Amino acid sequence: MATAAAIAKVRTYSPAETQRLGQVFGQALAAGDLVNLQGDLGAGKTLFVKGIARSLGYDPEDVQSPTFTLVHEHRGGRLDLFHLDLYRLDDPLGDVEASGLDEYLDPRDGVTAVEWGERAREALAARRFDVAFEVLPDGRRVTFWARGMEPRRLEAVRNAIRSAGFQAE
Ligand SMILES: Nc1ncnc2c1ncn2[C@@H]1O[C@H](COP(=O)(O)OP(=O)(O)OP(=O)(O)O)[C@@H](O)[C@H]1O
Ligand SMILES: [Mg+2]
Repeated sequence: MATAAAIAKVRTYSPAETQRLGQVFGQALAAGDLVNLQGDLGAGKTLFVKGIARSLGYDPEDVQSPTFTLVHEHRGGRLDLFHLDLYRLDDPLGDVEASGLDEYLDPRDGVTAVEWGERAREALAARRFDVAFEVLPDGRRVTFWARGMEPRRLEAVRNAIRSAGFQAE
């Protein structure tokens, strides 16, 4: 299987910067996009979603890890935002399919941001952004991949990140 090349790789040095990176990325999102967030506990996935939320016109304070409900829906902004976290599912793929959550993982309208989505990898839309967070001693490394996306979408993300002043590694 071919591995897609990363479209951008940047570092953030504070929680605020990670949130701002999410906001910048969010500006390049369009209806039907799936954003699959990878990284260990506490790596910065939810913080990044707060940034996406802000860019779509929502209050970042309203974005919390969906612990008890599996999905949080934010409606009324530039695009609907669906925020999922599959960490706590015992049988992620089975549970996702049984509860109809798989619809969120291949959204038609709006944008889905999923934490721990790789736990139900088979249910993820093939066309998506993968964003990986690595914990470093002084911050985070954030790597973006675009899978099955039109080249102009890749360019839009790359340009948004660059023009916001995030340095490519
Ligand atoms: N550069 C940084 N970027 C992101 N988070 C940072 C950074 N430096 C410190 N942090 C801290 O790391 C934590 C990130 O938490 P967050 O809830 O976003 O992680 P998460 O990846 O969603 O974890 P989980 O898998 O448990 O949901 C926060 O406590 C934040 O303050
Ligand atoms: Mg989280």
